[in-house]
Amino acid sequence: MSDLTIRLATVDDAPAIARIHNEGIEDRIATFETDPRSAVQVAAGLAEKGDRYPTILGVRDGEVVAWASAGPYRNRPAYAGVAEHSVYVARSARGAGVGRIVLDGLCRAYAERGFWKIVSRIFPENAASLALHERCGFRVVGVYRRHGRLDGEWRDCVIVERLLG
Ligand SMILES: CC(C)(COP(=O)(O)OP(=O)(O)OC[C@H]1O[C@@H](n2cnc3c(N)ncnc32)[C@H](O)[C@@H]1OP(=O)(O)O)[C@@H](O)C(=O)NCCC(=O)NCCS
Repeated sequence: MSDLTIRLATVDDAPAIARIHNEGIEDRIATFETDPRSAVQVAAGLAEKGDRYPTILGVRDGEVVAWASAGPYRNRPAYAGVAEHSVYVARSARGAGVGRIVLDGLCRAYAERGFWKIVSRIFPENAASLALHERCGFRVVGVYRRHGRLDGEWRDCVIVERLLG
């Protein structure tokens, strides 16, 4: 996608990030979360993460159409270089290569900050996310069985990782 650019998010991007995140929450295929995120919550999260855990945006024609972000995997010092990420593309922009560009951008940004690994969990039913992560160089580590309940139903999670640097 030639007209897509990526950049780091600022707190001013919180409303766009929340809007895209809430589409993913509504779709019930991306996350165990069921409550919508407010822009205020997203802004607070961006401020707390600071430059150590940046959010990468995909921007097309001046509009934010995707984001990828990460946070600490665990608080123990041994895991300081491991980040756990999420990636969300606006419904209207999916299936056009946007996810691949922002996820690659996230991996570059975190490699530059000295992280050695990025990990995530994906519902087995989320074919688009599994394909995206495979294309971006992630490997499937295994499957957590009955990892949590979404709308009362047990769900498995596929664990993926990519070594950085
Ligand atoms: C998952 C998601 C981020 C993928 O982003 P995207 O921009 O649609 O993906 P891309 O267009 O970059 O596609 C990446 C690869 O996945 C493949 N792919 C995309 N959608 C697919 C689908 N529905 N089924 C199978 N493969 C698919 C593409 O063919 C592409 O592979 P290729 O380069 O070999 O052609 C996007 O669908 C999304 O935001 N979904 C809702 C939120 C979500 O599930 N986030 C992930 C939580 S773990």
